Amino acid sequence: MTFHNKVIYQIYPKSFYDSNGDGLGDLRGIIQKVPYIASLGVDMVWFNPFYLSPQKDNGYDISDYYRVDPAMGSMEEVEELIAALAAEDIGVMFDMVLNHVSTEHEWFQRALAGEKEYQDFFYLRPAQADGSLPTNWESKFGGPAWAPFGDTDLYYLHLYDVSQADLNWHNPRVRQELFKVVNFWKEKGVRGFRFDVLNVIGKAQELVDAAPGQSDKLLYTDTERVHSWVQEMHRETFGDLPDAITVGEMSSTTIANSVAYTQPARQELDMVFSFHHLKVDYDRGEKWSLVPFRFMELKQILTDWAVGIQQGGGWQASFWNNHDQPRALNRFGDVERYRVESATMLAAAIHLTRGTPYIYMGEEIGMVDPVYSSMESYVDVETHNAYAALRERGLSEAEALQVVASKARDNSRTPMQWDASAAAGFSSGQPWLQPTSQAEINVAAEEAGGRILPFYRQLVDLRHRMPLISEGSYEPFALEHEQVYGFVREHEGQRLLVACNFYGRETELEIPADFTAGRVLIGNYEQAPALTQKLTLRPYETLALLVG
Ligand code: GLC
Repeated sequence: MTFHNKVIYQIYPKSFYDSNGDGLGDLRGIIQKVPYIASLGVDMVWFNPFYLSPQKDNGYDISDYYRVDPAMGSMEEVEELIAALAAEDIGVMFDMVLNHVSTEHEWFQRALAGEKEYQDFFYLRPAQADGSLPTNWESKFGGPAWAPFGDTDLYYLHLYDVSQADLNWHNPRVRQELFKVVNFWKEKGVRGFRFDVLNVIGKAQELVDAAPGQSDKLLYTDTERVHSWVQEMHRETFGDLPDAITVGEMSSTTIANSVAYTQPARQELDMVFSFHHLKVDYDRGEKWSLVPFRFMELKQILTDWAVGIQQGGGWQASFWNNHDQPRALNRFGDVERYRVESATMLAAAIHLTRGTPYIYMGEEIGMVDPVYSSMESYVDVETHNAYAALRERGLSEAEALQVVASKARDNSRTPMQWDASAAAGFSSGQPWLQPTSQAEINVAAEEAGGRILPFYRQLVDLRHRMPLISEGSYEPFALEHEQVYGFVREHEGQRLLVACNFYGRETELEIPADFTAGRVLIGNYEQAPALTQKLTLRPYETLALLVG
């Protein structure tokens, strides 16, 4: 498959490079950094939204799909960016936010003004007989999922922020309009599409309360309708592009559904983002909590998904980081004592597995969560809602701040750290989010002799060169080991054993005899260990052994 040997780099445009000193990253800034992007060897860049938006949810609240937010740049610059990347043989993946629009979008405004035609674009419902909201669903950003629709007696559904109104995909006009958006960008040369929260588009027409104890998500996630609408979108938009790469962001999805989304014959998507492996440091499903991550559960999830998706003939996106997640290095590594080792170990775990790897900007230089001492430093609407909820639950300011500091989405949204200067070489002005670790962690330092960036470049190169990595089968290894995550890849007589020590202490690992005669394809310590059947892995050591 065309996309199996590709690596995708994710850029959060607001935080990549600010070319005009206003503290916000912009498209011109990204254009200026194309040589750096090209130096990574990546095949495609996924950009978070830069469309016109009131920025209530950092651009995921779109008020015009066909215009560029002036704070980010212009349509000419988008075209220039696409061309500049194409000249380096790098494709672009744009973010398609089709589940909802900003309440400032013309469709919502016309609906509010009473135009029936546009009211049918949304989920508008009356209160229940007892006066309660149309359903008891909760917004994923906290609070109820319904808000009053102007001064009518109706409410509109918003699964996310109150400024993001869910679109009614049952209405064929809505689907047509959304497919037009995809095609507009396709015409501009966009070949990658990342579909935001795609598996929640399939709400029923008749919306009902979640039963006591039942999660409301079950009522609207991964319904059959999602599959048929995605198939329709495939037909109507990107389906005729031989080189398109598509990925659906799937909230709380299942292996079975992910297989269905990605089996080539079903003509839905190339791959999905699922998030179960990034919930292993939630306390009983609660993100805003502080518990150490559960390694055995993480391993089991990575294994089950890799095996399950493979068995079903599907494909997955392989990633640790994105703009919605705190830095994986803080969660699963040791940023104090073993930053380099844990960053490279985590990289090997996702780049050598079966699936398409994504690198989130800054990950390739081992960026970490910022350290802020007050809530004022945070920007994200979700962070502030969560803080308020934690305070209401009785946590002190300091306790709530501590939770926020480890879970906020702002953690990954801080500016890309180019050099050690006060604004990290990101801006000549005041960055919209303050970087705090640039003195030590920055591109210049990595280029001058760091070990993380070269390791990433090597991993990208290996995927390009070795069908064993891009196409090989996946088999779990050392499932019972309490410190090591491992797997074996196999392809046309070649085998690769990948072992990752997830802890800051040494451990022993028994490997099959044939691998002792193999060679180290890649490892994250300068000196590889002696290849005996009982291997000693050092803190956060990763090792990939090749035979055949
Ligand atoms: C996705 C995006 C996230 C956004 C949400 C609502 O999860 O990745 O950033 O807030 O959708 O659009």
